[in-house]
Amino acid sequence: MATVRPALIMKFLDNRSIFIVPAMLVFAMAGTGLSLLDFDDPARVATKRSSTDQASIDQGRIWYESYCAGCHGKNLEGQPNWKSPLPSGRLPAPPHDASGHTWHHPDDILASIILRGLKPFAGEEYESDMPAFEGVLSVEQVNDILAYIKDRWPERERSYQDQMTDHASNSAPASPAN
Ligand code: HEC
Repeated sequence: MATVRPALIMKFLDNRSIFIVPAMLVFAMAGTGLSLLDFDDPARVATKRSSTDQASIDQGRIWYESYCAGCHGKNLEGQPNWKSPLPSGRLPAPPHDASGHTWHHPDDILASIILRGLKPFAGEEYESDMPAFEGVLSVEQVNDILAYIKDRWPERERSYQDQMTDHASNSAPASPAN
């Protein structure tokens, strides 16, 4: 089973972004639903939209190189064959550049994964090499890292992810847009 689950979580993470936009329409029509995304995502942490300031991007690069590059690659390229499980049954680190799927997720989901790891999203038994950085990195540091990662995306990926973040922020009171 261990070799099946990693593929499932990837599907889960990808599908959830696609779900958010239609879900927003339903919420808008119902005139409520403020806490529905929270309910759906108990693991989401309250974060601000990451900055586009050059200072934040530069600082994020330093944090990224110290805390993330060892697995996700100095150039955000990820580990080789990142879609195929390792002999351990766990997945390799995916790229954070446009060839990966980081840009499919809104800021608060990304920050939540970075701070809390994948278990809160995938279940307690889900085994992953992605560490939880809560207690190691502050929300500010995580925002800087996201600013750096996003700065490396082409316009198309950046604006798609921006819209994802807009929709998520509008519907989840724990994630103010600014
Ligand atoms: C020890 C290796 C390791 C380190 C260090 C690490 N990661 Fe990961 N990360 C992984 C692995 C492996 C996965 C895929 C896990 C899975 O799907 O089971 C992952 C997945 C992720 C994901 C979810 C997939 C995606 O791209 O949306 C994000 C976001 C992420 N890492 C960000 C970071 C950031 C930011 C840092 C540095 C603060 C970091 N990681 C440090 C190994 C690592």
